Amino acid sequence: MGGGGRHRKVALVPLALAAAALLGGCGTYPQSDFNAVGPVSQLQRSALVEDMRFLGVIGIIVIGLVIYAAIRFRHRPGEEETPAQVEGNPRLEIAWWVVIALGLIFLVVPPLRDEFVLAQTPKGPDVVHIKVVGHQWWWEFQYPDYQFVTANEMHIPVGAKVDLQVTSADVIHSFWAPNIAGTLDAIPGRVNTEWIQADKPGVYWGQCKEFCGLNHANMRLRVVAESPADFQKWVDSHQHPVGVAQLTGDALAGWQVFDGPGTCKNCHTIDGTDAKGIIGPNLTGIGSRLGVAAMTLVPNDAQNLSTWLHDPQAVKPGNDMVIPKLTEQQIKELIAFLQSQKTYESPQVKAALENPLAQ
Ligand code: CUA
Repeated sequence: MGGGGRHRKVALVPLALAAAALLGGCGTYPQSDFNAVGPVSQLQRSALVEDMRFLGVIGIIVIGLVIYAAIRFRHRPGEEETPAQVEGNPRLEIAWWVVIALGLIFLVVPPLRDEFVLAQTPKGPDVVHIKVVGHQWWWEFQYPDYQFVTANEMHIPVGAKVDLQVTSADVIHSFWAPNIAGTLDAIPGRVNTEWIQADKPGVYWGQCKEFCGLNHANMRLRVVAESPADFQKWVDSHQHPVGVAQLTGDALAGWQVFDGPGTCKNCHTIDGTDAKGIIGPNLTGIGSRLGVAAMTLVPNDAQNLSTWLHDPQAVKPGNDMVIPKLTEQQIKELIAFLQSQKTYESPQVKAALENPLAQ
């Protein structure tokens, strides 16, 4: 006695694990291709769902036949003789090769059909071009149509086709904002292209999806999809940056730290100033961005800027920002300066600034 109960309990373990795995898919995980907000991710999702349905039906048929055979042809008491041994049945074998071949062909149809749409290069006056460059461990976004560069936060106009040219400055990364499109590898010396489009305004999470070193997991990004009018204002604010002419007090002192010999400007560019370094992310408009250090620290507030400036290597070990220790006063002034460098904030950006982790 007791043995049966124990076996039953052991049998419950895989069931509980399966239930946990299934239910784990419930809840709100906003960074998901199942929450598709544009034609590219919708096509990719529908191809996945169609294939999963087809495979589900095949799975049910196969499992049903196995269960049927196990019950129908089971050994019964009193049956002693060995059943007839069947070896080779050409007709049956040809039949199941044909069925498997047809199944595989059918499985390829949805992705192949969508591939023709996804492989197009968008053309026309409304297309926005963005060059995406992966770095260890941050994203550079160049807007050649508008002659400016930004980092870690890609802005796109809702409803417009966006042509992405994706490459890398060092190792292989992979650009991924699942609500908008599947992954595209960023490979040094090569340019991969895809088009994306968001039909719903919002701020969408993304991240690097190819292991690229120690801080691969801290190579995050956000895509801000805003109305075409808001996008244009954001572009304008990059073309007419705040600069330093009007600064006073701590912000001005912070600029002097930033501009000092052997400091921030050697690695960072801020448009409208003489800081033109290109080793680190372009910091034009840093005061309006949603996170610090490729969204390693969210939100982009005084506390997180202070954490970063106190010890960038403690926050993100191995990153390129190796700096002498700053004084409390310098950090306070730098924060005031960085926060003064704002760009246009659309309603989507304002909502994300208020509720940093939501989407
Ligand atoms: Cu870049 Cu992982």
